[in-house]
Amino acid sequence: MRVLRGLTPLRSQLKRYRKRGETIGFVPTMGALHEGHLSLVRAARKECDRVVVSIFVNPTQFGPNEDFQRYPRVFSKDRALLQKERVDLLFFPSVKTIYPDLFATEIDVGPVSEPLCGKFRPGHFRGVATVCAKLFNLVQPDRVYFGQKDYQQTQVIAQLLKDLDLPIAMRVMPTVREKNGLAMSSRNRYLSDGERKKALSLSQALFLGKRMIRDGEKNPQKILSRMRALLRERGVRRVDYVSVVDPETLETMKRVKGKVLLAIAAWVGKTRLIDNFLVKG
Ligand code: PAJ
Repeated sequence: MRVLRGLTPLRSQLKRYRKRGETIGFVPTMGALHEGHLSLVRAARKECDRVVVSIFVNPTQFGPNEDFQRYPRVFSKDRALLQKERVDLLFFPSVKTIYPDLFATEIDVGPVSEPLCGKFRPGHFRGVATVCAKLFNLVQPDRVYFGQKDYQQTQVIAQLLKDLDLPIAMRVMPTVREKNGLAMSSRNRYLSDGERKKALSLSQALFLGKRMIRDGEKNPQKILSRMRALLRERGVRRVDYVSVVDPETLETMKRVKGKVLLAIAAWVGKTRLIDNFLVKG
């Protein structure tokens, strides 16, 4: 596995792959890798001749009071994990490489970035879209791999690919969970044992919502109030949102019909967690 930090070596290595007609799969990450990330790497390994992974804790997608500084950085461990998965190229740029002095362009993909996390993390998806556009331009992959865990992010990327006519296929892989249901996340590292128990209530609330829909409940308000009650009972007091939305537009649904997305963002101690289920009504 090659580890490259600069743009010139990255471009020349990728050129070699392309010259041989090899397909390139790309998995962008912020590191602190877990089985969720590795599931994306494995899918890319299966479907592409070459697998490129990036590790870059992107400052522009963090708000001023968010966890950019304390975000876990465990490069040696990540590198070993990716080597085991037979990744071809690990791109690990510095902040200055991605954002040189006087960098000014920002990409805003519009309405899909506004509801849900967009409301509570202003500018977050602008940072995500901007860094992904840059990384896609650098790597020029055939396929990119994203996790359903960050559902709104997949919609933002789909909009970006479509609007900018980028010739890249997007693959969205299912959320990888602990046995107990907790969605894997790099931020789970912040949780104490007690907080981990509390964090379980996010997936439990989603299971409850799913069950209600399966049992024929059509009124989102009834579903949401039961989900909120469950979170409250388990001691999750700060809830950014619990929502039933249209999986395409992310707009609030007034009645459950067809496929719906159940989505939660809530705080457990100082850690903000998100999770979602796609449910057929
Ligand atoms: P990061 O949080 O490191 O996640 C990288 C990729 O792994 C994303 O596509 C995310 O959805 C996926 N992922 C995370 N947890 C997962 C899980 N439990 N199951 C399946 N997939 C999971 O998302 C980002 O980084 C950044 O916003 C990035 C796209 C790299 C841009 O900076």
